[in-house]
Amino acid sequence: MSASTPRLAWGILGTGAIAHTFAKALAKSRTGKLVAAGSRTQESADKFAKEFGGVTAHGSYEKLLADPAVQVVYISAPHPQHAEWCIKASQAKKHILCEKPLTMNHAEAMVVVEAVRENGVFLMEAFMYRCHPQIARLIELIRSGVIGQVGVIRATFSFRAPYNAESRLFKNELGGGGILDVGCYALSYSRLIAGVAQGLPFANPTKITGFAQLHPEAGTDLYAVASAEFSGGIFAQLAAGVGLHQGICVRIFGTEGSIELPTPFGLGEGNSTSIFLTRAGVAQPEEIVIKTNEPLYALEADAVGDALAQGRLESPHVTVADSLGNMAALDAWRTSAGLVYESEKPVVKER
Ligand SMILES: NC(=O)c1ccc[n+]([C@@H]2O[C@H](COP(=O)([O-])OP(=O)(O)OC[C@H]3O[C@@H](n4cnc5c(N)ncnc54)[C@H](OP(=O)(O)O)[C@@H]3O)[C@@H](O)[C@H]2O)c1
Repeated sequence: MSASTPRLAWGILGTGAIAHTFAKALAKSRTGKLVAAGSRTQESADKFAKEFGGVTAHGSYEKLLADPAVQVVYISAPHPQHAEWCIKASQAKKHILCEKPLTMNHAEAMVVVEAVRENGVFLMEAFMYRCHPQIARLIELIRSGVIGQVGVIRATFSFRAPYNAESRLFKNELGGGGILDVGCYALSYSRLIAGVAQGLPFANPTKITGFAQLHPEAGTDLYAVASAEFSGGIFAQLAAGVGLHQGICVRIFGTEGSIELPTPFGLGEGNSTSIFLTRAGVAQPEEIVIKTNEPLYALEADAVGDALAQGRLESPHVTVADSLGNMAALDAWRTSAGLVYESEKPVVKER
């Protein structure tokens, strides 16, 4: 971007934890600037605006969407609010970066996609890890055939947070549970690699069998595992959790070697990250170091900025079809594991 190119004007919807992380990183992006923040309360919007400076504070999400200075909205509310605010943002003709998971389920995601198409706005699900150069390098390695034909992918994103009935990590009406919160990452990673291994941008599993341990009161999953089958003889073992530490790691096994990614998702800001490549018959893995000076979420904001500058309404990093595939696969995992949110259950009327 040249010095004279105007920066893309961002509005942040919701002023919680990830909104702060994103706003801080946005200040270091090549293409964007924060111009407004919207909160359910004026007090929280004011506090956020004061923290970041030069930002208009809106005491409602509607006011944020009505702000003519805002070109693109970052939706950082809890998952059950994503569909509603994506639809409203698209109707307000704002481009959208929406936090993961795109929606609660595939049916909601279809409605969102229809709305963005109808209104001609950009949509990307905020899988920030896809925008890091580590992924580009990993794709090159898989395509080069250095590990041969990919057979098995193991992707885990699982931590243990102390149980809190009011937290969005556990609460049923806030879309709590590990499958949606972090299983979406593991699944999207495996779908990416299964696709790349077959010369495709991503692949959708043909079958998923999953299990989940539900919290007895919240009814949301504390931890979960799944096996996914893809075409081409590729299988994925997935694990997710907000109530059990299973670690965070991706490993890819091929006929000629394997790849380990100890930091597949939460990549460090301005730090280096490493891919470990083990060739068949060689005991010691080779460390491939990847460096970037841009914070991860700035890379994500720039992926949006770059796509819009090229006149695109999707980003090649996370296409709409990719997000729809991920939502369908998450539905399959949840169905197999017996996890249905209260909001998804049919309403039975008393006679
Ligand atoms: N990409 C990543 O690295 C990453 C990391 C963490 C989370 N996330 C995603 O980002 C979203 C938000 O996560 P978070 O950890 O930032 O959550 P959080 O700290 O609880 O913040 C969520 C914000 O959403 C707004 N909100 C709207 N309706 C709400 C409701 N009914 N209850 C509570 N808050 C409500 C609130 O902002 P106002 O009060 O200002 O309206 C709140 O501060 C989730 O979908 C999550 O999956 C992504």
